[in-house]
Amino acid sequence: CGIVGYIGDEQATPILLEGLKKLEYRGYDSAGIAVLRDGNIEIKKSKGRISVLEEAIKKDDLIGSVGIGHTRWATHGEPSDNNSHPHLSQSGIIAVVHNGIIENYQPLKKLLVQEGYKFKSETDTEVIANLMEYYYKGDIVETVEKVLDRIEGSYALGVLSKDCPDMIIAAKKDAPLIVGLGKGENFIASDVPAILKHTRDVYFLDDKEIAIIKKDSVKIIDIFGREIKKSVYKVKWDVEAAEKGGYEHFMLKEIHEQPKAIKDTFRGRIVDGCDIVLDDLKITKEQLANIDKIFIVACGTAYHAGIVGKYTIEKFARIPVEVDIASEFRYRNPIINERTLTIVISQSGETADTIAALKEAKSHASRVIAITNVVGSTVSREADDVIYTWAGPEIAVASTKAYTTQLVAIYLIALDLALKKGTITREYAAEICEGLKALPEKIQNFLDNKDEIQKFASEHYNTRDVFYLGRGLDYAVAMEGSLKLKEISYIHSEAYAAGELKHGTLALIEDGTLTIAIATQENLFEKMLSNIREVTTRGGYVLAFVMEGNTQLEGVVGKVIYLPETLEEIAPIMAVVPLQLLAYYMAVDKGCDVDKPRNLAKSVTVE
Ligand code: G6P
Repeated sequence: CGIVGYIGDEQATPILLEGLKKLEYRGYDSAGIAVLRDGNIEIKKSKGRISVLEEAIKKDDLIGSVGIGHTRWATHGEPSDNNSHPHLSQSGIIAVVHNGIIENYQPLKKLLVQEGYKFKSETDTEVIANLMEYYYKGDIVETVEKVLDRIEGSYALGVLSKDCPDMIIAAKKDAPLIVGLGKGENFIASDVPAILKHTRDVYFLDDKEIAIIKKDSVKIIDIFGREIKKSVYKVKWDVEAAEKGGYEHFMLKEIHEQPKAIKDTFRGRIVDGCDIVLDDLKITKEQLANIDKIFIVACGTAYHAGIVGKYTIEKFARIPVEVDIASEFRYRNPIINERTLTIVISQSGETADTIAALKEAKSHASRVIAITNVVGSTVSREADDVIYTWAGPEIAVASTKAYTTQLVAIYLIALDLALKKGTITREYAAEICEGLKALPEKIQNFLDNKDEIQKFASEHYNTRDVFYLGRGLDYAVAMEGSLKLKEISYIHSEAYAAGELKHGTLALIEDGTLTIAIATQENLFEKMLSNIREVTTRGGYVLAFVMEGNTQLEGVVGKVIYLPETLEEIAPIMAVVPLQLLAYYMAVDKGCDVDKPRNLAKSVTVE
C-alpha cells in the first residue's frame, strides 16, 4: 500500500492525487482521500486505480488544505469501496490510512464490538480508527501512543482528527514512512517519489516513532512522548530512481525486500514455538485423515516452489505428493477424487492455466488450497482455503520475493499438516520454525556482502551455457536458479538432478563450461562431490554454493561461495538468493532489459 499526507496552504486533494499516482507501483486495487473541511472529515474512496478515484471527485469535493490519501494492495478484505482507505472511526472524528498488517486485530475488534462499535469494512485498519476513538479523551497524540501500545504487527499510519485541524499524525513500525519538509507545508509518504516534486528534504522515520506534523513544524516523539532529534536527509535520486527505492531495477529492489517479505509471511502464523496459525486453512485432523494424495499445480517460478513443496510435505507429513505444471495437468485427465488435496500456487492468482487446473481439481471433488500474493484474485476466490504470501506487489517480470514467500507458505502448510497428522514431533517443528525466523537476518547479511557475486558475474557474463546441478532440495533450487538466468540474461541454461549427469548431460561439458553446483544437503554431499568431480575432470568450471563451515570444496572447484548456515530443510530459501543475484548481475552486465525481458509477461492470463 502507499500513503501520502499534506498540510499547508495549498489545496490538498490535487497534491495527494499526484502523490498517490507516484505510489501506484505499491498497489493499485483501490484508493481514497480524506480532507479536513470546515471542522469535518470528508472522504472519497473507490475500488480501482487512482484514475477511477480522480474521476469520482467532483469540483467542489474535498476542499481543504489538510489531508491524507492511500492506494491499496489488499490484505484483510478483498478490494472494494468499503474496504478502501481512509477509514473513519464510528462517529467520524478520526480518519486513518494504514500500510501493514495488524496481527491482533481480531481480539481488538471483538472488544470494540462488545463496546458497541459497528464495523463497515473487513479491514484491520478500521479497528485502528475505532480503537483511537475508543481511547480518545481530547488529546489525539496521547491516543495514538495508547493505540500503538495495543496493536501488534506492522504499520505505517497517517491520522487525521476532526478536533485538531492543524495537524497530521504519522507513526510506523516495520513498514516505511517518511516526512517531507517544505516551507509552510509538510508531507508524509510511504516513499520518496510521492513528494519529490515538492521537497528533497526528508526524515526517514524509525520504528515506533510518532511524527506530529503541522504546516510550520514537525516534531518527532517516541511512544512515551519523549522528543527525538532526527537529521534531515537530502534526497539526491531522480524520480525514476526514487520509484525503485534508489535501486537500478525493480528486480534488485525486490531481491532486497526479501528479508521483510519473508518475515511478513510468517509473522503471526507461528505461535508458542511451533503452533501454526493459518486463518484460512480450515482442514481438520479428521478431513486430513481421508487424504491419501496431494497434487501441487502451478506454472513457472511457482511450479519450482511446488517442487520444494513435494520434498517437504512428503518428508514432514508422509503424504505422497505429485507436482505438475498447470498446462499439463489440465489436459491429462489426472487421477483425482475426494481423497486428493490440491495445492495451487500463483503469485498473481490470475494465470489462466493455473485457474483451469484449479477448476479441474474442484470438478473432481478435490479440496483446493491456494497460495497467492494477491487478495481477491481469481485463484483466491475459487479455492477452498487460501494462504496469502505477504510479499507486496512484485513488479519485475522475473519473480524473486514471490518465490521465497511461496516457500515460507509451503513450509507452514507442511508443518501444519504434519502436526495434525502426528508425523513429526513438536520439538522438530519448533526447530524448523526457529530456523525460519532466523532467515530474514541471514539473508540480509548475505545481501550486505553481495559484491562477491557481482564480481563473479562480471567475469562470466559472456558465457554461452550454464548448467545448474543439485540433489534433493538443491535440485529444486537449481531449477529456479536456471530459470532466473535464462529469462533475464538470455544465456542458455539448464538444471539437472546431479545424479542424471552421466546419463547424457556430461556430453555437453567442455573446457571451461560454467557449472553451478548447489550442495547444502549434508546426507547428499558426498554424492554431490562425486558429480562435481565428474564435471571438473572434463574441464568444466564449477562455482559451488555450500554452507559456511564446509570447506571440503576448497581447491576442488573453481570458486566456492559460502551461505550463512541454515537448517538444511529450509535451505532453498537461502540458497536461491545468490542465484537471483547472479542472474541479475549477469543480465545487467550483458545490457539486458532486466525488469522487462523480451517476449515475457508478468502474468500470463491467456492460454
Ligand atoms: C509468468 C511470470 C513468472 C511466473 C509465472 C506464473 O511466466 O513471468 O514469473 O512464475 O508466470 O505466474 P503466477 O502469477 O501464476 O505465479
